[in-house]
Amino acid sequence: MAEVILKDIVKIYPYIDKPKRKYFGLFGKKVAPRIRKHNLQITDKGVVAVQSFNLDIKDGEFIVLVGPSGCGKSTTLRMVAGLEEITEGELIIDGKIVNSIEPKDRDIAMVFQSYALYPHMTVYQNMGYPLRILPQNITYQFEIDFLNSEIKDRENEKLELKETINDEKKLQVKLEAIDNIIKIHQDRIKECQDKIAAGEFSYVAKLSPAMRRYKILQVAEMLNITEYLDRKPKNLSGGQRQRVAIGRAVVRNPKVLLMDEPLSNLDAKLRNQMRAEIIKLRKRINTTFIYVTHDQVEAMTLGDRIVVMKDGFVQQIGTPQEVFDHPRNKFVSGFIGTPQMNYFEAMLLLEDDKYFVQIDDYKVELSKEKQDRLRANNVGTQRITLGVRPDHMVVGEEGIDGTVDVNELMGPSVHLHMTVKGKDVIVIIPTLGGYVNYVGKTIKLGFNGGLVHLFSNENDRNLEYLNEEYKEDPRLAELREKEKQEALKAKEKEEAKPQE
Ligand SMILES: Nc1ncnc2c1ncn2[C@@H]1O[C@H](COP(=O)(O)OP(=O)(O)OP(=O)(O)O)[C@@H](O)[C@H]1O
Ligand SMILES: [Mg+2]
Repeated sequence: MAEVILKDIVKIYPYIDKPKRKYFGLFGKKVAPRIRKHNLQITDKGVVAVQSFNLDIKDGEFIVLVGPSGCGKSTTLRMVAGLEEITEGELIIDGKIVNSIEPKDRDIAMVFQSYALYPHMTVYQNMGYPLRILPQNITYQFEIDFLNSEIKDRENEKLELKETINDEKKLQVKLEAIDNIIKIHQDRIKECQDKIAAGEFSYVAKLSPAMRRYKILQVAEMLNITEYLDRKPKNLSGGQRQRVAIGRAVVRNPKVLLMDEPLSNLDAKLRNQMRAEIIKLRKRINTTFIYVTHDQVEAMTLGDRIVVMKDGFVQQIGTPQEVFDHPRNKFVSGFIGTPQMNYFEAMLLLEDDKYFVQIDDYKVELSKEKQDRLRANNVGTQRITLGVRPDHMVVGEEGIDGTVDVNELMGPSVHLHMTVKGKDVIVIIPTLGGYVNYVGKTIKLGFNGGLVHLFSNENDRNLEYLNEEYKEDPRLAELREKEKQEALKAKEKEEAKPQE
């Protein structure tokens, strides 16, 4: 277990590839090679993959980094592992700055999306591989764990003997013998602990074959792969292979376990199963986890806290509940939760010290908590983007008009795909035993004043949390503007197409 702190971490990939051939335009005029721009920051120095990343990870915490492709998740993870140089900022593990410490000395293990097992080795050999040579403090620690479990077994043996042997004298002799063994174990534990504490250990040590076997079997048991230990990876299923890869990573008891999309190669069913396995594993080993995924369901179910990223910027850090209930900006609100949140153009009104949202004639008073937060932020009447989750919309007497295009009966609920004011909207309504087919009908959609999200039209931030300590990078505004322009252009292009 370890505490991991990322302080103002920045990663810039310097330009390395120069254009291989000269580019000539018309009449042999030289044309500058075009740099392919995606939505990332491209500066003179290079490609900025991660921007001012700040995060304090507690001992034993399970952190999930989540975000769309290319947002810098793997880069962040690789910097923690030491596989990628940190351009700016400090990485602190257990109170020590480790920026320049070699990966192998960081006591960190990583599981990749591709299992990367040695094909010519059996599962047993694959798992034993990281144990070939270890720093001696780790071998001492293994020995301590092993001896502790031995002592536990001996204590149990003593209890059993007391119940089965009636002859007092005979019992005493047996108990004494066991106590002697326990004493020897305890002395050895003390010796190992003293050596670790005094820093008296060499950096290369070998584990005894018995210890090695003990360790491999222990982890194999934990991951339910004991029966495959003699097989080669090619004779295993995807899920089993990923288990072996996880086993190989945890067999050394790393302080920090990094996982980069470990489940994305598995089919949906297996993924659910492995997700549950990871939750179990987490309970059994004392390790700090950093887990990368682009799947928001994985993020919500696994993380103690999740970090939502976009374009190299951290968008929000919080517990899954916090991020779901109180997304700090429009991007987070749309990324977390399926089906996606619906957005409406609306008015936020401040009248007689009360806050309302209004779309056309439909006006709803906001809940007390929302009003309090808006008041604390001095938010005034303005045009906003109103976000409402599909399952927070209600069909009723009052509301905004929408027509139902498609009706999907999911069992306990119906998903209505609707058009509301020219935009696609999804509404989930529980069937509760009855089922009404709404296709083609125009119905009224309402919402609850406590279950809506209010986003600024200027900067997409949640208006309830404006005064939260947050320093927005000015370039984010630029990025947003660019995105808007591109969307506008795409729309214009779409509209300009001749209708058939
Ligand atoms: N070696 C490199 N040189 C230059 N740019 C790189 C390099 N590695 C990654 N990048 C860029 O940095 C950005 C972040 O990459 P990263 O691999 O961290 O994304 P990611 O969030 O893990 O995405 P994915 O979900 O697709 O794995 C990407 O846009 C990528 O193009
Ligand atoms: Mg990645």
